[in-house]
Amino acid sequence: MSKNFVKRVLSGVQPTGGLHIGNYLGAIKNFVDMQNDGECLFCIVDLHAITVWQDPKLLDMQKREVAAAFIASGIDPEKNSIFNQSEVPEHSQLAWLLNCTSQMGWLKRMTQFKDKAGKNQEKVSVGLFTYPVLMAADILVYKATHVPVGDDQKQHLELTRDIVIKFNNDYKKEIFPLPEPLILKSTSRVMSLKDGQKKMSKSDPSDLSRIMLTDEDDDIRKKISKAKTDEFPFPDNPGDLEKRPEAKNLITIFSGFTGTSIDNLITEYAGKNFSHLKSNLAEVVISGIKPIREEMKKLLEDKNHLDKVTNKGTKNARIIAAEVLKEVYETVGLK
Ligand code: ADP
Ligand code: TRP
Repeated sequence: MSKNFVKRVLSGVQPTGGLHIGNYLGAIKNFVDMQNDGECLFCIVDLHAITVWQDPKLLDMQKREVAAAFIASGIDPEKNSIFNQSEVPEHSQLAWLLNCTSQMGWLKRMTQFKDKAGKNQEKVSVGLFTYPVLMAADILVYKATHVPVGDDQKQHLELTRDIVIKFNNDYKKEIFPLPEPLILKSTSRVMSLKDGQKKMSKSDPSDLSRIMLTDEDDDIRKKISKAKTDEFPFPDNPGDLEKRPEAKNLITIFSGFTGTSIDNLITEYAGKNFSHLKSNLAEVVISGIKPIREEMKKLLEDKNHLDKVTNKGTKNARIIAAEVLKEVYETVGLK
């Protein structure tokens, strides 16, 4: 028999220095759409960020930038909890217990670890390896039922579900719900502007590969005009789009910002050359980003206000987390 858990949404974003339109279309925009649909917690995952080196002098600022991006994108801080992960110590406490449930083999299969560690597996931090277990704790310490994320987090959500199954089974108690990933198919994987086969990412060495939420209008125009395309005119059917990753990415971004379907966009741009699409796309992205960029700037001028928002979020979050952790401690026999 499955228990009825209260609907609760949780997601996390790392304060690793700036957010790009992949983060926005793949995750943050969905957070905004979900906020009237149950209790929502949005976490700035600073403990995840430090699994790779972060400059301590910049970390505070980077965290405020994520809080500002959430609010500027439309998340209402009165209705939802926006908070810093490290200020709710129950995340780390639960993570330890879940480390003792998770199996080495499960973690060794995580592709994000393999990608991030590359040839350096012996030298990267242990934290980077157990990162997905902390992510499971972020979710389970609130018994969250729904987790909006981009496609790259699917495997981590599957791991979270494996941990839930094993934990509930080990202790013969349905303590955690099985969280559902919410992955918006169309924009769950925004690709690099320089390579349609690679995910748009903060860590790409080329600035031209991504559009940041803080980019000025002219930067956006320049990046889109320099985006990689092939030499053929725009395709006239969705099947051909699948073989043309750069064309597909540009049209996906267009659709993400305007809500116009890919089919309608194909009809509009079929047979035309890319410069036409690119100049329209630049204006569409600018009208999506500009209000967010300007609001972020304003919010970042008032650090006290941002800190008040996250303090309030922390307080709300801790009430839930403390109660869940107590139940888990008792279940495990720790009291
Ligand atoms: P990173 O940007 O380093 O992958 P984040 O923690 O900042 O990591 O990611 C925040 C959210 O943005 C996650 O839900 C992630 O899946 C999503 N995301 C990141 N990159 C992309 C992308 N290129 N396309 C779609 N979603 C993305
Ligand atoms: N691992 C996620 C990423 O890299 C960030 C994250 C941490 C997260 N904890 C989470 C996402 C909990 C959703 C739920 O993007």
